[in-house]
Amino acid sequence: MTKLHVSQHPLILHKLTALRDVETDHRSFRELMRELALLLCYEATLDLKLSPKTVTTPMGEAHGHKSEETIGLVPVLRAGLGMVEGVLQLLPSVQVWHIGLYRDEETLRPVEYYNRLPDEPTVQVCLVLDPMLATGGSAIATVDILKRWGVPRIKYVGIIAAPEGVERLSSAHPDVPIHVACVDERLNDVGFIVPGLGDAGDRQFGT
Ligand code: PRP
Repeated sequence: MTKLHVSQHPLILHKLTALRDVETDHRSFRELMRELALLLCYEATLDLKLSPKTVTTPMGEAHGHKSEETIGLVPVLRAGLGMVEGVLQLLPSVQVWHIGLYRDEETLRPVEYYNRLPDEPTVQVCLVLDPMLATGGSAIATVDILKRWGVPRIKYVGIIAAPEGVERLSSAHPDVPIHVACVDERLNDVGFIVPGLGDAGDRQFGT
């Protein structure tokens, strides 16, 4: 059961193209990533659970709603950091739990180097933020960590995916919806997405 959501939103497609452009400098790259993260999370939160809430307007009572789930953002270091600020504009009261993973250049396997999750889960929904879903190894490892932590509902929010990454993540975790702006052609022989955008961490941080 693949739950792949590829955005068709014109603003997302426009900003994605600018993000990919090799002429885009670090400052604009960070700004675009912030905006794309906000828009993609807006789409990814379409099914958040609500409970009834009544408020009093100057004209009387209005029967409305309030969001009832505790949400956590889980940016995957480093590149996921650039997605946090935009999502916090949309969801200012959520928790942010960082996970540090890097991809071994030889094996392409993820290596965990930062995880300060407490023993018990403190959120009901996690949005994993990482712009690039390449082989899928980092996303699978992150979801593994969150499931072991005991989070009941997990969503992956990325910007560009390779077909290989979508396939691996949805086979390993069929319950985790994948929200991206685009699924690109393929991975190259060193595990980079083609055409992709290069190294999302390096392009954000000028390294
Ligand atoms: C990139 C990217 C993902 C991962 C994707 O991070 O941000 O975390 O690779 O690759 P995968 O799907 O094959 O696991 P990288 O390891 O380059 O670390 P960085 O963000 O610190 O640059």
